[in-house]
Amino acid sequence: MASLTVRQLDDRLKKLLRLRAARSGRSVEDEVRTILRDAAEEGGSRAADLIEPPASPTKRGAAVSRPAAPAGAKRVLLVIGGGIAAYKSLDLIRRLKERGISVRCILTKAAEQFVTPLSASALLGERVFTDLFDLSGEFDIGHIRLARETDLIVVAPATADLMAKLAGGHADDLATTVLLATTAKILLAPAMNPRMWANKATQRNLAQLIADGIALVGPNEGEMAEALERGLGRMAEPLEIASAIEKLLSVQPMQLLQGRRVLVTSGPTHEPIDPVRYIANRSSGKQGHAIAEAAAAAGADVTLVSGPVNVTHPPGVKVVEVETAREMLQAVESALPVDVAIFAAAVADWRVANAGVQKLKKQAGKATPELSLVENPDILATIAKRKMQRPRLVIGFAAETENINANARAKLASKGCDWILANDVSPQSGVMGGDCNTITVRASGVEAWKPQSKDEVAATLITRIADALRGSK
Ligand SMILES: Cc1cc2nc3c(=O)[nH]c(=O)nc-3n(C[C@H](O)[C@H](O)[C@H](O)COP(=O)(O)O)c2cc1C
Repeated sequence: MASLTVRQLDDRLKKLLRLRAARSGRSVEDEVRTILRDAAEEGGSRAADLIEPPASPTKRGAAVSRPAAPAGAKRVLLVIGGGIAAYKSLDLIRRLKERGISVRCILTKAAEQFVTPLSASALLGERVFTDLFDLSGEFDIGHIRLARETDLIVVAPATADLMAKLAGGHADDLATTVLLATTAKILLAPAMNPRMWANKATQRNLAQLIADGIALVGPNEGEMAEALERGLGRMAEPLEIASAIEKLLSVQPMQLLQGRRVLVTSGPTHEPIDPVRYIANRSSGKQGHAIAEAAAAAGADVTLVSGPVNVTHPPGVKVVEVETAREMLQAVESALPVDVAIFAAAVADWRVANAGVQKLKKQAGKATPELSLVENPDILATIAKRKMQRPRLVIGFAAETENINANARAKLASKGCDWILANDVSPQSGVMGGDCNTITVRASGVEAWKPQSKDEVAATLITRIADALRGSK
């Protein structure tokens, strides 16, 4: 291996090295080692490039210029803790930058075992902060400035350890010192093994943190990184965290569906028995209407085909009111072409074949009238299987009272739609007519969403749709 001593370098380079070393508080030899290590890491690592190539060359610890955040942009300081979910926080950086939010980032020592400062700084376009006693860091931006120059501190993943330290007021590293020194709002996205989450100590710390006014997003229920483990402890998805951040910062939600046409069906259908009676179901229209409202708020051009409902139609959407399944299909077909069709209506499977033209009358001595049923058109399958003007994304709901997963799987396969959102509508679930919903999304994979309000389901769905459409015009 070639050897080179500092003495062999030219005078100008030696002078520059001495200056750099003095500024960072290192010996000249250590400074050279640092420069070489950084250069080798940068050349050898492709991790950051796999996520997204940096806009400009960035070096670990180098003070590169911040990309111009929009004037008045909200500022988030992201603390990445040492958990497996740390990789998701790299995606969170992207999500926040997409939303025009300016982001600074601290990695805990443990976090550096899961993601590299290089990956994070490549996404940030600026250095990340790791050390409390970093002389070069203290030189241009100290921990007190990090704590003050932010509108919100987000800890994701919030490890059991960080939660304990925060609840106890510890300050033994950069992350905890900044958390203790800040007056900004703090949002935690906890992530840990379900047993760590359920542990009395963690729950005690959680109660303390909530009492201290700290906000939380997640954790969610689901598969853990450890094989065969399931339960409560998964970190909320980056989009969920981004939307919690938007709420806390009171920023306008991003116009995620600007320029897209979205069709939503909502509510029940009424299938006449005679001119005054009908067969209906308990659908309130709350979920479909919430989706239409969220799509409109995200900038989409929305047509809402609504069955008879008592909820108010959302502002800023084109509403087509219908009564029967056949009318609904007609209205849906007239609204095409659209980019996305979301079929949230509870459409009657059958209608009365022999509906009375006049009101059916009780007549003494006459037999009770028999209703004969005939199948209604399948709106979801009809649209999903269209050859012409098929929406890019066709999304159905599976309202089930039993075997929810098996029925949703079968429905996805038989209807030809892209996603099925399955929900339990059995009376004990309180979903029909209620304000909350628990959704499992089935597409190429399965994703269980935590129980949430129908408005939150709508917001989550819109971000997922925007994600799926991203890049397609
Ligand atoms: C492979 C591995 C995965 C870990 N995942 C988590 C995790 O998801 N959540 C957590 O609270 N701790 C997790 N830990 C433990 C933390 O890394 C450990 O408590 C560490 O001290 C946290 O440091 P920090 O809170 O300063 O980031 C994990 C440890 C290892 C070795």
